[in-house]
Amino acid sequence: VRQREVQLRVKTLRRVELFSQLNEVELRGLAERLRYSPFARGNVITRQGDERSHWLYIIINGEAEVYVDLPNGKRRMVRSLNRGSFFGEMGLMTGAPRSASVIAKTDVECYRIDKDVVEELLHARPGIAEEVSHILVTRRAELDEA
Ligand code: CMP
Repeated sequence: VRQREVQLRVKTLRRVELFSQLNEVELRGLAERLRYSPFARGNVITRQGDERSHWLYIIINGEAEVYVDLPNGKRRMVRSLNRGSFFGEMGLMTGAPRSASVIAKTDVECYRIDKDVVEELLHARPGIAEEVSHILVTRRAELDEA
């Protein structure tokens, strides 16, 4: 990735609440190792049941919606996610298949972070690991009620 692009990514990452404790060097390291992933409106970003669940996504622009498939074959919208939100932490942290489908409600721009990069980050910054685990538990409870 070119330096200009890395600088732009660092600027964007600085506005993500989850990364607010990271210093400049850490942000740059992350910026160099993530992948820019845009999705057009209506596209499925993660599909419920998908076993390839080793990426964490951060929304940097646009809005996405979390849907669960119900036993009766219908789908329910659980939550919408916007700029600064992350998703995919459940599959990444537990190894389980994707718990829900995340669908682009508008055109959405994401940063996609590989599991090994996330694990390194969580190891270096236990505060972030705690925050992600806490949010995971809350989301899990909400899913179970859907
Ligand atoms: P994962 O199971 O890997 O893939 C689907 C993602 O949807 C999941 O990780 C969470 O990031 C997200 N998700 C699931 N339930 C909720 C919820 N109740 N609120 C917000 N996001 C959710």
